[in-house]
Amino acid sequence: MSSIAIVSGTDRPGSRALKVSKYIKTLYEEQGAEVELVSLEDFPIREAYGGNYGKSLPEIEAFRSRVLNADGIVMVVPEYNGSFPGILKLFIDYLPFPEAFDKKPIAFVGEAAGAFGGLRAVEQLQLICSYRNAHIFPERVFLQRIQKIFDEKEGITDETIAELLDSQVRGFTNFVSTLAYNQPHAS
Ligand SMILES: Cc1cc2nc3c(=O)[nH]c(=O)nc-3n(C[C@H](O)[C@H](O)[C@H](O)COP(=O)(O)O)c2cc1C
Repeated sequence: MSSIAIVSGTDRPGSRALKVSKYIKTLYEEQGAEVELVSLEDFPIREAYGGNYGKSLPEIEAFRSRVLNADGIVMVVPEYNGSFPGILKLFIDYLPFPEAFDKKPIAFVGEAAGAFGGLRAVEQLQLICSYRNAHIFPERVFLQRIQKIFDEKEGITDETIAELLDSQVRGFTNFVSTLAYNQPHAS
């Protein structure tokens, strides 16, 4: 059985990213995956305060291991100011360099109030993950005008986008199983 970490990419209380992440978790569980939902609301930011790069940071190390130990990562990414949230970059900057995403399968779900569904945010994040040698899953999903097409109880209410998300979930589950044989577990 593959393990998947879903990263809810913001620390904004009450975010749609977290609600969508919880919904996506149920879809992966239906595929038989073991899922860890990691919300950046819980990132131990106090330990990073002051720029503690390269130091021993037990809380951040415990937090990041929940992501790095998974066979595959799903990034749920809201668009903030035409990019992804700053807390997500801080999280990435506190991952072990350069090995963190090396050969790690990663899938992307963008979500935004706007018409492009987090396209800019995802593309910028993809650049970073590609630079860090991740295996990028090519089917991306963009949840445009998220306030209109997502309901906590019903899930995705737009039929076409729901199908795209289902396809991503099924495809990424297979992608992760295929690649999982060679994944080192980092801390
Ligand atoms: C700091 C901030 C910046 C935002 N910038 C954008 C933006 O550039 N484009 C956009 O479509 N929506 C933007 N939004 C609205 C979000 O897309 C909206 O809040 C949506 O629900 C996703 O964010 P959430 O996961 O925090 O709820 C912004 C929201 C915040 C809090």
